[in-house]
Amino acid sequence: MRSFAGKVAVVTGAGSGIGRALVVALVAEGAKVAASDIDVAGLAETATLAGGEVRTYKLDVADRDAIYAHAEQVAADFGKVDLVINNAGVALQGTVAQMSDEDMRWIMDVDFWGVAHGSRAFLPHLVASRGHLVNISSVFGLIGVPTQSAYNAAKFAVRGFTEALRQEMQIEGTKVGVSCVHPGGIKTNIARNGRVSNPDDAAAFVKALDKVAMTSPESAARTILNGVKRDKARILIGADAYAIDALPRIFGSFYQPLVRIASSRMNSGR
Ligand SMILES: NC(=O)c1ccc[n+]([C@@H]2O[C@H](COP(=O)([O-])OP(=O)(O)OC[C@H]3O[C@@H](n4cnc5c(N)ncnc54)[C@H](O)[C@@H]3O)[C@@H](O)[C@H]2O)c1
Repeated sequence: MRSFAGKVAVVTGAGSGIGRALVVALVAEGAKVAASDIDVAGLAETATLAGGEVRTYKLDVADRDAIYAHAEQVAADFGKVDLVINNAGVALQGTVAQMSDEDMRWIMDVDFWGVAHGSRAFLPHLVASRGHLVNISSVFGLIGVPTQSAYNAAKFAVRGFTEALRQEMQIEGTKVGVSCVHPGGIKTNIARNGRVSNPDDAAAFVKALDKVAMTSPESAARTILNGVKRDKARILIGADAYAIDALPRIFGSFYQPLVRIASSRMNSGR
């Protein structure tokens, strides 16, 4: 997909952060956008900011039936679907021993199943349009990080699912492009909107993520859309993402002590 002019794009989690910036950038490049979120107020702000042809939909990506109904609704409203960006996501901080089953299920439902259902529901429409699918993983889909095991599990799962799907699309001779995105730290509300297993850690979690967030959502959106134009299999966002991507390649599983030390330093505020 070399240009977004006249294309119909779907963006989930469009009420904040990267999703909002994607909607604004897509409209600026001439796309029509189906923007969805559970946060209706945030979504309305996004539509106002973007101007252009944006339709908003209240959608919980953890609700399988709602996603399938959404795919049919968008296709009916716009007549086709060219680009789907499964962006909605949430954060959870807590050790394996601390986390509740409920919080683990919540993050898997949104961060993994939301992406899996979003991919499968829209796939027939993308095959028909020879379109492009983008799934947002994370640098935490590349390395394991203490207190992020459930987020790691969801984001590693998104990566495996998306990389397999890209190959299937090629084997089956479809013209569907598939990209997996691994953002480094992006300045968004993800930590503020997230959950912590130990309430005493909430402020520190927000502070730690704010400290490492190097990239603006607008810059992240530009990198994603440029990656789509080049049909990249893996889209890394930020110098931190390139460094983290290199860690396991260079050190193999010996990246783990490095991450453990860095993480302990961050948690002790050094
Ligand atoms: N911010 C970062 O540093 C960072 C790093 C790596 C990956 N990511 C990923 O980028 C994506 C976007 O996150 P962001 O940083 O813009 O966060 P954000 O919190 O600013 O935006 C996420 C949006 O998703 C929506 N959302 C949450 N649960 C939902 C649900 N069940 N159904 C529909 N919408 C829902 C929220 O309402 C919010 O508008 C996520 O998948 C996140 O995991 C973010």
